[in-house]
Amino acid sequence: ELSPIDKAKFVAARRAVDFVEDGMRLGLGTGSTAAWMVRCLGERVREEGLKITGVPTSSRTAELARQCGITVLGLDEAKWLDLTIDGADEFDANLNLIKGGGGALLQEKIVATASDRMIVIADVAKEVAQLGAFPLPVEVVPFGWQTSKALIEETLVGLDVLGREASLRMNGEAPFVTDEGNYIVDLHLQRIGNARQLALVLNQIPGVVENGLFIDICDVVVIGHGDGKVELRD
Ligand code: A5P
Repeated sequence: ELSPIDKAKFVAARRAVDFVEDGMRLGLGTGSTAAWMVRCLGERVREEGLKITGVPTSSRTAELARQCGITVLGLDEAKWLDLTIDGADEFDANLNLIKGGGGALLQEKIVATASDRMIVIADVAKEVAQLGAFPLPVEVVPFGWQTSKALIEETLVGLDVLGREASLRMNGEAPFVTDEGNYIVDLHLQRIGNARQLALVLNQIPGVVENGLFIDICDVVVIGHGDGKVELRD
């Protein structure tokens, strides 16, 4: 028996997998909701003989996809994708997102951008009026990361945000390391007034590789509820 939150994630994932058609090249997201999607997709591959190829957005998802019997390709082998299905940490009414709670934002953004469509799967708790309560992940190269973090904090002054605290993401005693060997600085902004501007400005800072704001990338959000109800937002 699933808890309400897991049920919400599962029903959203299962509904999104209905959008998958034979022959598609798919981007496979990362996180607990995306993991449900990969399992549901694997079920369709086994039961219907669905022929699809998947491009995973993390080493974790690659491993799960293989276990589920999904043919896995790298992005440059697949070249262009029909659809990416991924989770999110927050989404707003314009379908702009915060992603990267699981640390996979860089591959997730590259893969989603290389797709004709992106469908986000989320439990209803991730819907927000304004982005920013969830800490915004920013991926930085390890070289000079403290300097990059200071530059990020300085850049936040004068931008339309409420909080300005930045923290290096840890994995126990050591910095958390992404699949690309980078670090993550989480920005505790509380409220992001102009997400489009913030996304652009952050990526101008030397040492910043990418940020977790997904602007104009998502096409549809499939929202799952704890009672099993599903809503589509586009
Ligand atoms: C991974 O880096 C993230 O972007 C995830 O997609 C996001 O954190 C959602 O994860 P959950 O589905 O586990 O909430």
